[in-house]
Amino acid sequence: MKVVIADNAEDMSRKALALIERLLAGIAEPCVVLPTGNTPLGLYAAAVQAGPRGALARARYVQLDEYLGIAPDDRRSLARWADTVLLRPLGIGRDRLIAFDPAAPDAEAEALRVEREARRHGLDLALLGLGPNGHLGFNEPGSAFDSVSRVVPLTPASIVSNAVYWGSEADVPRQAFTLGLGTLATAKAAILLVTGAHKAAILRRVLLDPPSPEVPATCLRLLTNATVVADRAALSAVPADVLARMAA
Ligand code: PGA
Repeated sequence: MKVVIADNAEDMSRKALALIERLLAGIAEPCVVLPTGNTPLGLYAAAVQAGPRGALARARYVQLDEYLGIAPDDRRSLARWADTVLLRPLGIGRDRLIAFDPAAPDAEAEALRVEREARRHGLDLALLGLGPNGHLGFNEPGSAFDSVSRVVPLTPASIVSNAVYWGSEADVPRQAFTLGLGTLATAKAAILLVTGAHKAAILRRVLLDPPSPEVPATCLRLLTNATVVADRAALSAVPADVLARMAA
């Protein structure tokens, strides 16, 4: 796995956007996994600023995760969030977002529908954030590396971390859809975005621990084209000699 070292969150967004442009150059309509969270917000703003010819403006998206058991227009819908922070500002219609229906009556069938759609289009890039417990999407610790899209219960840790977005823990839905780790592994390239000292301990484990479902993001180490783009604060627990070896 390669590591791109950024000075701070703003630099991380800039370097991630440059890498995305390189990876997706020449692909007319790249298919990109779209993550939720605070980490990618700067990147999304940079993509909007870059204008309509940028790779993220000509992309089709697959939603990484979504809550289950809420109305599609609920304020907590992650597709609605994606629409607000990235898709609408880029002029991308909902028809270019492959999304889980949070109100689907048969949730397992809905997860498999999205899995089929993702595989039919083929993922050019899995853009990812890192959970404080090492999760990718809602692939919580214990998720198998070959898992596919499915319904999962939120862990207590994710309920706490998601409460930051919605006001309180009581506001966080208890179940969610997520693309699987095996789904993400089909992507031609993956980028893990990480910023902040609060992610330093988990990022060290992602980069140095033996790959194991205990830290789901270690699955990226088994891919041939995965890059971590992280700021110095997030990389502060990685020994300098190890970082020098991994630096892209
Ligand atoms: P964050 O969330 O970007 O808000 O830190 C990442 C995650 O939990 O997947």
